[in-house]
Amino acid sequence: MNITENGPVPYGTTTRRRPRWSEIRPLLQLGGLGGDRRERRLRRCLTIDDLRSLARRRTPTAVFDYVDGGADDEIALRRAQLAYQRVEFHPHVLRDVSHVDTSTTILGLPAALPLAFGPTGFTRMMHHAGERAVVRAAARAGIPYTLSTMGTTSAADVMEAAPGADVWFQLYLWRDRGRSTELVQQVRQAGVRTLMLTVDVPVGGNRRRDARSGLTIPPTLTWRTLLQIARYPSWWGNVITTEPLTFASFSDAPDTLAEMFATMFDPAMTLDDLGWLRSLWDGPIVIKGVQRVDDAVALLNAGADALVLSHHGGRQLDRAVAPLELLPQVVQAVGDRAEIYVDSGVRSGADVAAAVALGARACLVGRAYLYGLMAGGERGVDRAAELLTGQFRQTMQLLGARTVADLTEDLVSLRR
Ligand code: GLV
Repeated sequence: MNITENGPVPYGTTTRRRPRWSEIRPLLQLGGLGGDRRERRLRRCLTIDDLRSLARRRTPTAVFDYVDGGADDEIALRRAQLAYQRVEFHPHVLRDVSHVDTSTTILGLPAALPLAFGPTGFTRMMHHAGERAVVRAAARAGIPYTLSTMGTTSAADVMEAAPGADVWFQLYLWRDRGRSTELVQQVRQAGVRTLMLTVDVPVGGNRRRDARSGLTIPPTLTWRTLLQIARYPSWWGNVITTEPLTFASFSDAPDTLAEMFATMFDPAMTLDDLGWLRSLWDGPIVIKGVQRVDDAVALLNAGADALVLSHHGGRQLDRAVAPLELLPQVVQAVGDRAEIYVDSGVRSGADVAAAVALGARACLVGRAYLYGLMAGGERGVDRAAELLTGQFRQTMQLLGARTVADLTEDLVSLRR
């Protein structure tokens, strides 16, 4: 007890009264028990990590692990995210941020924010709505979507699902160049404008989680998977009752991802192949998987239009440099010559703001929207886009940035 001039200060007592119904009634919020349960679950997800937790509960372990996992000890995977935790903001205050404009252009087309949905394989395996759901959500969010060579929906079907969407196609080069030529032509005919060549997969990464789970595409019915059917009946019900889970770009794939990378795609690819691709494609060519400054410069000299600094989300070479940490050096070396995008480890709109301030034109996300897809189908992808967009806008406001151009280098440093 404190002692004052008047002696010890006595403890107070609380006066109580009977509450009136008219005071309690406005506080009641019991409407939530009806309505759409999926919607309520998604609304409770306030971060991409929340969507990840929900996805984990709703998807068979082998499928979740395929998305969530990385190569070897998953050091690169963790470091890519840790790089964003190194970000330290230096915000401006008193900048009137009552109206902020999050929009930008990506390869000359308008985008609602500096973000694109990157390519992900077997998307109908994560949820039966698959690539169609993702492209529609991207179109609603006003950002580009990249269909993968490993996609389970054709480019024509993707374009039909979201007419007018900015669809890119990610290419792995087959050993048989004739097949690649055919695929590129099909994609062009479907109306795709931008081609993205992935260059960090001369061979597959060592995905231990997939080896341990025995993941095959499509998943096969073993004793282990039969047990999973009991745990995830609606996932399996959807796989069995919707169009068969096959690749859209090829029909002769081996069962496992490791065999696919080992036998189908070309480890002999070199810079010369870019010239060959250029002769086939008159639209923009983006190269994904760049991990060094000298390679970035060489690729631009060889005719690439834009680059994605990426280590494939830590799924290829473990311990590869975190793309965010490479970004400032690449931006310094290439200046305004080309748009530089960054992926791997992006989990929030604040991450996007940091990357843009460090010189990226945009970020790509893969897992972020797949967690949404696994958590709640197409609405889950919308939720992922909504979260990233809202966080990006709020970060801009808190940084005192009214436009994307205001996201300048001086607003960010990377802690040691
Ligand atoms: C496919 O590209 C994968 O990373 O699994």
